[in-house]
Amino acid sequence: MIGTKNNGAASQNGAPSQGKRTSGNLRPGSLAFEAQLTLQRLLPRLDAVWEKTKTSERVRHDFEVRLHDHWQSLFELLRELYGQRYDFFYHLEQILITAAEAWAHRSPVLREVDHQRINDPDWFTSEKMVGGALYVDLFSDNLGRLRESIGYFQELGLTYLHLMPLFAVRPGNNDGGYAISNYRSVDPRLGTMEDLRLLADDLREAGICLVLDFVFNHTSDDHQWAQKAQAGELEYQEFYYIYPDRETPDRYEQTLREIFPTVRRGNFTWHDGMQQWVWTTFNSFQWDLNYSNPSVFRAMLEELFFIADTGVDILRLDAVAFIWKQMGTNCENLPKAHTLIQAFNRLASIATPGLLFKSEAIVHPDDVVKYIGHDECQISYNPTLMALLWESLATREVRLLTQSLSHRHQLPENTAWVNYLRCHDDIGWTFDDADASKIGINAYDHRQFLNRFYTGQFQGSFARGIPFQENQATGDMRIAGTMASLAGLELAIEHEDEKGMDEAIGRILLLQGVALSIGGIPLLYLGEEWGMLNDYDFVEDPAKAGDTRWVHRPKMKWEFLEELGDSLGSGPGSLRRRIFRSLQRMITVRKSLPALGGQKMDLVQSGNTHLLTFVRSRDSHRLVVVANFSEQPQSLEGNVLRTAGLGRFFEDAIGGQTYGSSTDLIVAPYQVLWLKRV
Ligand code: GLC
Ligand code: GLC
Repeated sequence: MIGTKNNGAASQNGAPSQGKRTSGNLRPGSLAFEAQLTLQRLLPRLDAVWEKTKTSERVRHDFEVRLHDHWQSLFELLRELYGQRYDFFYHLEQILITAAEAWAHRSPVLREVDHQRINDPDWFTSEKMVGGALYVDLFSDNLGRLRESIGYFQELGLTYLHLMPLFAVRPGNNDGGYAISNYRSVDPRLGTMEDLRLLADDLREAGICLVLDFVFNHTSDDHQWAQKAQAGELEYQEFYYIYPDRETPDRYEQTLREIFPTVRRGNFTWHDGMQQWVWTTFNSFQWDLNYSNPSVFRAMLEELFFIADTGVDILRLDAVAFIWKQMGTNCENLPKAHTLIQAFNRLASIATPGLLFKSEAIVHPDDVVKYIGHDECQISYNPTLMALLWESLATREVRLLTQSLSHRHQLPENTAWVNYLRCHDDIGWTFDDADASKIGINAYDHRQFLNRFYTGQFQGSFARGIPFQENQATGDMRIAGTMASLAGLELAIEHEDEKGMDEAIGRILLLQGVALSIGGIPLLYLGEEWGMLNDYDFVEDPAKAGDTRWVHRPKMKWEFLEELGDSLGSGPGSLRRRIFRSLQRMITVRKSLPALGGQKMDLVQSGNTHLLTFVRSRDSHRLVVVANFSEQPQSLEGNVLRTAGLGRFFEDAIGGQTYGSSTDLIVAPYQVLWLKRV
């Protein structure tokens, strides 16, 4: 059997290789033979697409080259998912036509981008990449105004912009845009499809990639498919998991986790109109799509291509862990979830080859990494690093962090982590229990401690977080709160504690300094650059009150920008200015250091458990990062730095100070150093 991995970039720019085109050298009955025969039968069906769309010979040839390159693995993936269906061949044909239409309609500009990226497959691992994420309404009210903020993103240094979901949503609670009722129209409060396209063009012009969500695990209960299901159309009831009684749901429930236990117990919601149960992993109005039905796969493929067509560079695949269900399992991270994403990936490689996938799997680290691959999701949130950076801040030690990094940071070629500190979601302590126990930490107790610490209940804690989805039955919870409030700024401001403010800013910049240097794409959650505090007013909006994540989704305050020019004072304006300017500087410095590109990172045993120390290298470039997680100065032996490759004299690229390795290095409280040889 031939593997499902990418099988041939060789002929990407040339003619389809003969061996793949003919089936002459393949054994009849083998899968490879079946694949080739199927393609031979299907190819003529595309003629109608090319004619209808008046696609030129050359453009059509590009598609066919890639189709030949990826066909074998695509065929195997789809066969694994849907090969048992009597109508498999029909669905294959429809899927292929969908892909051909997508390519035929792709704009020349995007085709040009495709071409560049095929020739530069690790373009996104550059040190020049720096991301930001925001809600359009909270940041700039609408898409039109957002276009006017491009200068702001450039000033900050962003080259990647993730806009939180902006498609049409159900009225009332819509889970921050994640309950989509129409993937083909923009929420009218934010603008129109045309506004989105114009924004995409402007961003491209400014060298900023556009990232949008592909919310493909579920639709809103008012999506037209769900409406048709509610109206009794059986074909559309099959788009979801719908059951007449508790029998099947109860059997599934025996092995399922609860994701939003404060919303509703269990994973199913009773629908009065249909008098049936619907699978709803998240909120009750988010109906899980049934991917065991190939019509769902094709329908969502059409939506994927439609979204890609607006000029998106990266699709954030939402809630990937949940997209495949199987009785008797926890229905998370199942093998077929990977098959499914790989099939989408193959189709994107054929029809929208410049497009990347980003995985959102906030699960156990062993599972997170399984979504990452050039043939699946090229980039992924790094939730383990995120959680363990906060863990290190609480404990002032990096033991668990380094234990985890020592065997979890490395990734396959042409892939990258997306390193973030806060996002629109909560923090869950998803580290591995075995990593913890190896260094004598009891994982259960430690999570209890972290929850108490970050909700401010632990004596001496600097954090001001609040619980999210506290599960009364299991005692489990996750943490909500902005970066600045979790890092101690809120508390220090309230107590007018100057030293506390300095320390909080130190913590913020320390975490940013690590995220910007450890390897991968750093991703800011906008508002962080100002140290924005928790916003407790969300409780006044009934559509938000039940979801504490809104505490860390504050509205942008543009007056902050004016404070940037003020002369130094000591008010909150000056705190914000310090955070903004320091972060901005670190971003600029990052972009000037080729050692910070790529993913290669080697930990250095410093002998000091408060210091995270690692070497970054790419080609002939080398940088040593030292980060002090405690509020005390820490020392590091000069010898350690010399052997890490810094020689006798070196310089901190952030602060500009020079040091020598003949003496021990003293690292100030919460200081982060990016050291390079001079
Ligand atoms: C993802 C989103 C989260 C949302 C959930 C359901 O985890 O990040 O905000 O609630 O999916 O769509
Ligand atoms: C995600 C995660 C969960 C996260 C949630 C959004 O898919 O599994 O940890 O908190 O959805 O809040």
